[in-house]
Amino acid sequence: MHKSLLFLFLLITSFAATAACKANTLLSPDGRLHFTITLISGKLYYQVTCDSKPILNKSSFSFNFKGQPSLGHGLSVLKTENYHQDETWVPVACTSSHIRNNYNEQVITLTESKVPNRTILFIARAYNDGIAFRYQFPGSASDSLLIAAENTEFNFPANDSAWWIPSNEFAYESIYRHSPLTSIPDANTPLTIETRFGFFLSIHEAALQDYSEMILKRTNEHKPCFVSALWPEPDGVCARVSTPFKTPWRCIIIARKPAGLIESHLVENLNEPCAVKDVSWIKPLKFVGIWWGMHIGQYTWAEGEKHGATTARTKQYIDFAASHHIEGVLAEGWNKGWETWASGMKPVQDFTRAASDFDLVEVTSYARKKNVAFISHHETGGNIPEYERQMDSAFDQCRRLGIHYLKTGYAGTIIPAGYHHHGQYMVRHFQKVVETAVRYHISLDVHESIKPTGLSRTWPNLLTQEAARGNEWNATYTATPPSHEATLPFTRFLAGPYDYTPGIFHIIHSPEKNKRLYCTLTNQLALFVVFHSPMMMASDMVENYEHNDAFQYIENVPSSWDETKVINAKIGHYVTIARRSEGKWFVGTVGDE
Ligand code: NOJ
Ligand code: CA
Repeated sequence: MHKSLLFLFLLITSFAATAACKANTLLSPDGRLHFTITLISGKLYYQVTCDSKPILNKSSFSFNFKGQPSLGHGLSVLKTENYHQDETWVPVACTSSHIRNNYNEQVITLTESKVPNRTILFIARAYNDGIAFRYQFPGSASDSLLIAAENTEFNFPANDSAWWIPSNEFAYESIYRHSPLTSIPDANTPLTIETRFGFFLSIHEAALQDYSEMILKRTNEHKPCFVSALWPEPDGVCARVSTPFKTPWRCIIIARKPAGLIESHLVENLNEPCAVKDVSWIKPLKFVGIWWGMHIGQYTWAEGEKHGATTARTKQYIDFAASHHIEGVLAEGWNKGWETWASGMKPVQDFTRAASDFDLVEVTSYARKKNVAFISHHETGGNIPEYERQMDSAFDQCRRLGIHYLKTGYAGTIIPAGYHHHGQYMVRHFQKVVETAVRYHISLDVHESIKPTGLSRTWPNLLTQEAARGNEWNATYTATPPSHEATLPFTRFLAGPYDYTPGIFHIIHSPEKNKRLYCTLTNQLALFVVFHSPMMMASDMVENYEHNDAFQYIENVPSSWDETKVINAKIGHYVTIARRSEGKWFVGTVGDE
């Protein structure tokens, strides 16, 4: 039930007409947040305060293009329009059954006073839980722009402490750092800050489409000043766009307590309403899978003596799921081509042909009989042209076999060479996969994905993503410190759902290699509440669940929620979250070392 009310309530600019310095303040609906936009000598500056305390000092913007002069100087205000919205929308699978979207918006049309007299719109929004803005390039449909840089400044008032990951670590699989803003050379978003004025902020972006992701780079050795940066393609262009074009939103969640960051829906609210007419086929689920066995080296993805995804083992997992109220089974390594992955060869997998010891028709019909969803898996290894070539036929095969869930992966250097994992080429690719999947009624769990930016409001079949350091690291690489899990709810999870793959019961999994997780069994259970993922994996091998009463908890815990309350929280140290599904509340806590 959408209650939508969008109206234009003011058309008169409050920018003073003649002064060299012209200011205009947009207020949040509760009046506490002030988003002030000023034009000083032809440059637009924005500034944010909350309860009269500084959040962001005057910050400006400009764009560089290939083939045209930069844009952002010599501007004047042509017109200003104000809007207000207060609606409540119903997500398909989320942490809350209803989401209120309540904001004031101002659209400022700016033009260059000198040739080439270009126009750009600055669209600003003030919510009770944060601010956001984006740029719009008008122009006729045939025009295209080659954006070589977007320079949006974020000038913080003080050298406060932040939780961050470097901008260029593979697939965001990093441990969060906690340090003063001036010690960050560059960071990805969400970037979370605790201010000396008593606020908790998180900078991120929303509705990232047809553009490069935004990273932040520090601009001054001694000051907490940052500028946005995009990933260039081999010719130096970061985004090729056809006008009219709106950039993704740049947004800041602003909370008075760490809990407020988690309870905010700012990122989803900044996205367009659902674009999928019939969503009845999109359902959250819990699943087990042939997965951890490969990560700890007991099985292999590729065919051979130790092959994990055999018909027999997948049926064993389906039997386990059917008798334990688990809705799905994933089988990684079911298809041909794995010997080309992570082997130094060019990764070329076949997404329609099964491994010789895996009978796809038999497995899918067995799963159907047992009322368990078979979750397919496509590990592209980063070979994008190859995946795009096979995508339609592979998705069509899924449709014919009744497969409605798919996990994808991009573990590898992107092919074609020179394209960044998080640049426009990949953002377009990830979007293409989501929209193609809608046509075939497939819901997605995307690993090594672009960071979430709330697009699952618009395409709810994008049920979950990875884009962070998950439990897999505890098998293969250096085990992750406990504080990581006490940091994620205030950082990565602010972007959207995350397939962390909790639920390891054999915590000391390879005693001979001294390999273990730094946690308890209770911790692994608590993650099913603290971490949100509408496709939620219980990631251990099923033999480690058999005869363990603790699994009952995983059977009972829901994978999407009607209400969420953060009971207590200290970023990086502890967080307790209560979530309700229908009449039942579940409470989970994680702590640090
Ligand atoms: C990395 C993914 O995060 C993991 O879940 C998967 O098992 C491997 N790639 C193989 O695709
Ligand atoms: Ca991964």
